[in-house]
Amino acid sequence: MENSGFVWLNNELTPLERAAVSVNDRGFLYGDGFFETLRAEDGRPQFLGEHLARLRDSARAFRIPFPEDFPWSERLNRLLAANGLEQGVARLKILLSRGTAPALGLPPATRPTLVIWAQPYTPPGPEEYARGWNLATFPERRTTFMGKHKSLNYLFYLAARQYALDQGANEALILEADGLVSEGAATSLVYAQDGGFYTPQAPSALPGVTLEVLGRGLARRGLALTHQPTTLSQIAQAEGFWVTNSLMGVMPVSSLDVRELPISPATGMLQECLDSEALLPPRN
Ligand SMILES: Cc1ncc(COP(=O)(O)O)c(C=O)c1O
Repeated sequence: MENSGFVWLNNELTPLERAAVSVNDRGFLYGDGFFETLRAEDGRPQFLGEHLARLRDSARAFRIPFPEDFPWSERLNRLLAANGLEQGVARLKILLSRGTAPALGLPPATRPTLVIWAQPYTPPGPEEYARGWNLATFPERRTTFMGKHKSLNYLFYLAARQYALDQGANEALILEADGLVSEGAATSLVYAQDGGFYTPQAPSALPGVTLEVLGRGLARRGLALTHQPTTLSQIAQAEGFWVTNSLMGVMPVSSLDVRELPISPATGMLQECLDSEALLPPRN
Protein backbone atom coordinates (compact mmCIF):
# COMPACT_ATOMS: atom_id res chain seq x y z
CA MET A 1 0.00 0.00 0.00
CA GLU A 2 1.17 3.50 -0.79
CA ASN A 3 1.99 5.52 2.28
CA SER A 4 0.87 8.92 1.08
CA GLY A 5 -2.30 10.49 -0.23
CA PHE A 6 -5.84 10.47 1.11
CA VAL A 7 -8.41 7.90 2.17
CA TRP A 8 -12.05 8.16 3.16
CA LEU A 9 -12.34 7.20 6.80
CA ASN A 10 -16.11 7.10 7.31
CA ASN A 11 -17.15 10.59 6.19
CA GLU A 12 -13.75 12.28 6.43
CA LEU A 13 -11.31 12.65 3.56
CA THR A 14 -8.22 11.97 5.66
CA PRO A 15 -4.47 12.09 4.93
CA LEU A 16 -3.30 8.48 5.00
CA GLU A 17 -0.70 9.06 7.71
CA ARG A 18 -3.46 10.32 10.02
CA ALA A 19 -6.08 7.70 9.16
CA ALA A 20 -6.37 5.31 12.13
CA VAL A 21 -9.01 2.92 13.44
CA SER A 22 -9.40 1.55 16.97
CA VAL A 23 -7.42 -1.52 18.08
CA ASN A 24 -10.88 -2.72 19.21
CA ASP A 25 -12.22 -2.62 15.66
CA ARG A 26 -13.62 -6.08 14.91
CA GLY A 27 -12.15 -5.99 11.43
CA PHE A 28 -8.73 -6.05 13.16
CA LEU A 29 -9.73 -8.43 15.97
CA TYR A 30 -11.73 -11.02 14.04
CA GLY A 31 -11.71 -10.18 10.37
CA ASP A 32 -15.34 -9.14 10.99
CA GLY A 33 -15.99 -7.22 7.81
CA PHE A 34 -15.84 -7.26 4.01
CA PHE A 35 -13.97 -5.54 1.21
CA GLU A 36 -14.14 -4.86 -2.49
CA THR A 37 -11.34 -4.16 -4.96
CA LEU A 38 -12.28 -2.22 -8.08
CA ARG A 39 -10.48 -0.87 -11.09
CA ALA A 40 -10.87 2.77 -12.11
CA GLU A 41 -10.11 3.93 -15.66
CA ASP A 42 -9.47 7.62 -16.21
CA GLY A 43 -11.35 8.43 -13.03
CA ARG A 44 -14.28 6.08 -13.72
CA PRO A 45 -14.81 3.21 -11.24
CA GLN A 46 -15.63 0.06 -13.24
CA PHE A 47 -18.74 -1.97 -12.36
CA LEU A 48 -19.33 -0.03 -9.13
CA GLY A 49 -22.98 -1.13 -8.91
CA GLU A 50 -22.00 -4.83 -9.03
CA HIS A 51 -19.27 -4.38 -6.40
CA LEU A 52 -21.59 -2.48 -4.05
CA ALA A 53 -24.30 -5.12 -4.51
CA ARG A 54 -21.88 -7.85 -3.43
CA LEU A 55 -20.69 -5.80 -0.44
CA ARG A 56 -24.29 -4.99 0.54
CA ASP A 57 -25.35 -8.66 0.31
CA SER A 58 -22.46 -9.76 2.53
CA ALA A 59 -23.04 -6.95 5.03
CA ARG A 60 -26.74 -7.90 5.28
CA ALA A 61 -25.98 -11.60 5.65
CA PHE A 62 -23.70 -10.80 8.61
CA ARG A 63 -25.83 -8.00 10.13
CA ILE A 64 -23.47 -5.11 9.43
CA PRO A 65 -25.46 -2.00 8.48
CA PHE A 66 -24.67 -1.01 4.90
CA PRO A 67 -24.23 2.74 4.42
CA GLU A 68 -27.18 3.06 1.99
CA ASP A 69 -27.04 6.85 1.78
CA PHE A 70 -23.32 7.10 1.16
CA PRO A 71 -22.87 9.07 -2.11
CA TRP A 72 -20.49 6.47 -3.58
CA SER A 73 -19.80 7.92 -7.02
CA GLU A 74 -19.20 11.43 -5.75
CA ARG A 75 -16.93 10.22 -2.92
CA LEU A 76 -14.93 7.94 -5.18
CA ASN A 77 -14.48 10.73 -7.71
CA ARG A 78 -13.27 13.08 -4.98
CA LEU A 79 -10.89 10.45 -3.66
CA LEU A 80 -9.43 9.76 -7.09
CA ALA A 81 -8.96 13.51 -7.62
CA ALA A 82 -7.39 14.01 -4.16
CA ASN A 83 -4.85 11.31 -5.04
CA GLY A 84 -4.14 12.66 -8.54
CA LEU A 85 -5.66 9.56 -10.16
CA GLU A 86 -8.15 11.07 -12.61
CA GLN A 87 -6.06 9.73 -15.53
CA GLY A 88 -4.92 6.19 -16.19
CA VAL A 89 -5.63 3.08 -14.19
CA ALA A 90 -6.18 3.05 -10.43
CA ARG A 91 -7.11 0.54 -7.75
CA LEU A 92 -9.99 1.37 -5.41
CA LYS A 93 -10.45 -0.61 -2.23
CA ILE A 94 -13.59 -0.33 -0.11
CA LEU A 95 -13.56 -1.89 3.38
CA LEU A 96 -16.55 -2.16 5.70
CA SER A 97 -16.12 -3.64 9.17
CA ARG A 98 -18.52 -4.01 12.10
CA GLY A 99 -16.51 -1.43 14.05
CA THR A 100 -16.23 -1.90 17.80
CA ALA A 101 -18.68 -4.05 19.79
CA PRO A 102 -17.70 -6.12 22.81
CA ALA A 103 -19.30 -9.54 22.32
CA LEU A 104 -18.86 -12.73 20.36
CA GLY A 105 -21.53 -13.59 17.81
CA LEU A 106 -22.56 -10.85 15.41
CA PRO A 107 -23.52 -8.01 17.79
CA PRO A 108 -25.40 -4.98 16.44
CA ALA A 109 -23.02 -2.49 14.89
CA THR A 110 -23.80 1.05 15.91
CA ARG A 111 -20.81 2.57 14.10
CA PRO A 112 -19.41 0.37 11.35
CA THR A 113 -16.03 1.41 9.95
CA LEU A 114 -15.81 2.37 6.29
CA VAL A 115 -12.42 2.98 4.69
CA ILE A 116 -11.79 3.66 0.99
CA TRP A 117 -8.37 3.79 -0.64
CA ALA A 118 -7.38 4.92 -4.15
CA GLN A 119 -3.93 3.94 -5.37
CA PRO A 120 -2.10 3.84 -8.68
CA TYR A 121 -2.27 0.44 -10.37
CA THR A 122 -0.01 -0.82 -13.12
CA PRO A 123 -1.75 -3.65 -14.97
CA PRO A 124 0.34 -6.50 -16.38
CA GLY A 125 1.98 -5.54 -19.69
CA PRO A 126 0.96 -6.98 -23.10
CA GLU A 127 3.86 -9.47 -22.96
CA GLU A 128 2.52 -10.90 -19.72
CA TYR A 129 -0.97 -11.33 -21.19
CA ALA A 130 0.62 -12.96 -24.27
CA ARG A 131 2.79 -15.29 -22.18
CA GLY A 132 0.03 -16.18 -19.71
CA TRP A 133 0.21 -17.13 -16.04
CA ASN A 134 1.44 -20.29 -14.39
CA LEU A 135 -0.86 -21.85 -11.80
CA ALA A 136 -0.06 -24.25 -8.97
CA THR A 137 -2.71 -26.35 -7.20
CA PHE A 138 -2.86 -25.48 -3.50
CA PRO A 139 -2.71 -28.75 -1.50
CA GLU A 140 -5.01 -27.53 1.30
CA ARG A 141 -8.60 -27.99 0.15
CA ARG A 142 -11.42 -25.87 1.52
CA THR A 143 -15.17 -25.78 1.56
CA THR A 144 -16.74 -23.03 3.63
CA PHE A 145 -19.84 -20.85 3.41
CA MET A 146 -17.47 -17.88 3.95
CA GLY A 147 -16.07 -18.42 0.47
CA LYS A 148 -19.11 -16.71 -1.08
CA HIS A 149 -18.14 -13.49 0.74
CA LYS A 150 -15.12 -11.26 0.23
CA SER A 151 -14.38 -11.19 3.93
CA LEU A 152 -11.47 -9.65 5.78
CA ASN A 153 -10.52 -13.23 6.76
CA TYR A 154 -8.24 -13.40 3.72
CA LEU A 155 -5.45 -15.47 5.25
CA PHE A 156 -6.37 -18.71 3.45
CA TYR A 157 -6.11 -16.90 0.10
CA LEU A 158 -2.85 -15.17 1.03
CA ALA A 159 -1.37 -18.54 2.05
CA ALA A 160 -2.57 -20.08 -1.22
CA ARG A 161 -1.03 -17.25 -3.27
CA GLN A 162 2.24 -17.57 -1.34
CA TYR A 163 2.30 -21.31 -1.98
CA ALA A 164 2.00 -20.57 -5.70
CA LEU A 165 4.74 -17.94 -5.57
CA ASP A 166 7.01 -20.38 -3.70
CA GLN A 167 6.46 -22.86 -6.57
CA GLY A 168 7.52 -20.19 -9.08
CA ALA A 169 3.89 -19.81 -10.23
CA ASN A 170 1.73 -16.67 -10.41
CA GLU A 171 -1.48 -17.89 -8.87
CA ALA A 172 -2.90 -20.79 -6.86
CA LEU A 173 -5.73 -23.04 -7.99
CA ILE A 174 -7.98 -23.85 -5.02
CA LEU A 175 -9.94 -27.09 -4.70
CA GLU A 176 -13.12 -27.73 -2.73
CA ALA A 177 -13.01 -30.39 -0.01
CA ASP A 178 -14.30 -33.01 -2.51
CA GLY A 179 -11.42 -32.26 -4.89
CA LEU A 180 -13.48 -30.36 -7.47
CA VAL A 181 -12.00 -27.13 -8.82
CA SER A 182 -13.11 -23.95 -7.06
CA GLU A 183 -11.28 -20.73 -7.97
CA GLY A 184 -7.94 -18.93 -7.77
CA ALA A 185 -6.51 -17.22 -4.67
CA ALA A 186 -7.59 -13.82 -5.98
CA THR A 187 -9.21 -14.82 -9.26
CA SER A 188 -12.16 -16.63 -10.78
CA LEU A 189 -11.58 -19.37 -13.36
CA VAL A 190 -12.91 -19.65 -16.90
CA TYR A 191 -12.18 -22.44 -19.37
CA ALA A 192 -13.15 -23.40 -22.89
CA GLN A 193 -14.35 -26.88 -23.76
CA ASP A 194 -15.98 -28.14 -26.97
CA GLY A 195 -16.23 -24.55 -28.16
CA GLY A 196 -18.18 -23.34 -25.08
CA PHE A 197 -17.11 -21.28 -22.06
CA TYR A 198 -17.39 -22.61 -18.52
CA THR A 199 -16.61 -21.66 -14.93
CA PRO A 200 -16.49 -24.11 -12.03
CA GLN A 201 -19.74 -24.47 -10.11
CA ALA A 202 -18.31 -24.58 -6.61
CA PRO A 203 -19.95 -24.01 -3.22
CA SER A 204 -17.13 -21.84 -1.86
CA ALA A 205 -16.08 -19.81 -4.89
CA LEU A 206 -16.56 -16.05 -4.62
CA PRO A 207 -19.24 -14.81 -7.06
CA GLY A 208 -16.75 -12.75 -9.09
CA VAL A 209 -17.90 -9.44 -10.54
CA THR A 210 -15.68 -10.05 -13.57
CA LEU A 211 -17.34 -13.42 -14.14
CA GLU A 212 -20.79 -11.87 -13.90
CA VAL A 213 -19.88 -9.15 -16.39
CA LEU A 214 -18.19 -11.64 -18.70
CA GLY A 215 -21.36 -13.74 -18.65
CA ARG A 216 -23.38 -10.69 -19.74
CA GLY A 217 -20.88 -9.80 -22.47
CA LEU A 218 -20.87 -13.36 -23.82
CA ALA A 219 -24.69 -13.50 -23.73
CA ARG A 220 -24.76 -10.32 -25.84
CA ARG A 221 -22.72 -12.21 -28.41
CA GLY A 222 -25.05 -15.23 -28.32
CA LEU A 223 -22.59 -17.24 -26.20
CA ALA A 224 -22.94 -18.66 -22.71
CA LEU A 225 -20.74 -18.84 -19.64
CA THR A 226 -21.95 -22.05 -18.02
CA HIS A 227 -21.36 -22.93 -14.37
CA GLN A 228 -20.52 -26.62 -14.10
CA PRO A 229 -18.81 -28.90 -11.55
CA THR A 230 -15.23 -29.15 -12.81
CA THR A 231 -12.43 -31.66 -12.27
CA LEU A 232 -8.71 -31.01 -12.60
CA SER A 233 -8.62 -33.30 -15.63
CA GLN A 234 -11.27 -31.17 -17.37
CA ILE A 235 -8.97 -28.18 -16.85
CA ALA A 236 -5.97 -30.17 -18.10
CA GLN A 237 -7.90 -30.99 -21.31
CA ALA A 238 -9.43 -27.54 -21.79
CA GLU A 239 -9.03 -25.68 -25.09
CA GLY A 240 -8.28 -22.52 -23.13
CA PHE A 241 -8.01 -21.56 -19.47
CA TRP A 242 -8.12 -18.08 -17.93
CA VAL A 243 -8.04 -16.39 -14.54
CA THR A 244 -10.13 -13.24 -14.15
CA ASN A 245 -10.49 -10.46 -11.64
CA SER A 246 -11.50 -6.83 -11.44
CA LEU A 247 -7.99 -5.42 -11.63
CA MET A 248 -6.46 -7.59 -14.35
CA GLY A 249 -9.46 -8.49 -16.48
CA VAL A 250 -8.81 -11.74 -18.37
CA MET A 251 -5.38 -13.40 -18.03
CA PRO A 252 -4.66 -16.60 -19.98
CA VAL A 253 -3.16 -19.54 -18.08
CA SER A 254 -0.20 -21.20 -19.83
CA SER A 255 0.54 -23.94 -17.30
CA LEU A 256 -0.99 -25.80 -14.36
CA ASP A 257 1.39 -27.63 -12.01
CA VAL A 258 4.16 -27.25 -14.59
CA ARG A 259 2.05 -28.92 -17.33
CA GLU A 260 1.70 -26.69 -20.33
CA LEU A 261 -1.77 -25.63 -21.40
CA PRO A 262 -2.76 -24.20 -24.78
CA ILE A 263 -3.15 -20.42 -24.95
CA SER A 264 -6.49 -19.89 -26.66
CA PRO A 265 -7.01 -17.16 -29.26
CA ALA A 266 -10.32 -16.35 -27.49
CA THR A 267 -8.55 -14.13 -24.92
CA GLY A 268 -9.06 -10.98 -26.99
CA MET A 269 -12.78 -11.65 -27.43
CA LEU A 270 -13.23 -12.27 -23.69
CA GLN A 271 -11.41 -9.04 -22.78
CA GLU A 272 -13.47 -7.23 -25.42
CA CYS A 273 -16.63 -8.53 -23.67
CA LEU A 274 -15.48 -6.81 -20.46
CA ASP A 275 -14.38 -3.62 -22.21
CA SER A 276 -17.66 -3.22 -24.04
CA GLU A 277 -19.73 -3.87 -20.88
CA ALA A 278 -17.67 -1.19 -19.10
CA LEU A 279 -18.76 1.37 -21.70
CA LEU A 280 -22.47 0.74 -21.12
CA PRO A 281 -24.36 2.92 -18.61
CA PRO A 282 -23.70 1.74 -15.03
CA ARG A 283 -26.18 -0.67 -13.42
CA ASN A 284 -26.78 0.38 -9.82
C1 LIG B 1 -11.04 -15.43 -3.76
C2 LIG B 1 -11.37 -14.60 -4.96
N1 LIG B 1 -12.00 -15.15 -6.01
C3 LIG B 1 -12.31 -14.43 -7.11
C4 LIG B 1 -11.95 -13.09 -7.22
C5 LIG B 1 -12.33 -12.29 -8.46
O1 LIG B 1 -13.40 -11.46 -8.14
P1 LIG B 1 -13.76 -10.13 -8.94
O2 LIG B 1 -13.96 -10.52 -10.37
O3 LIG B 1 -15.01 -9.66 -8.29
O4 LIG B 1 -12.61 -9.18 -8.77
C6 LIG B 1 -11.30 -12.48 -6.16
C7 LIG B 1 -10.92 -11.07 -6.25
O5 LIG B 1 -9.98 -10.62 -5.66
C8 LIG B 1 -11.01 -13.23 -5.00
O6 LIG B 1 -10.39 -12.68 -3.96
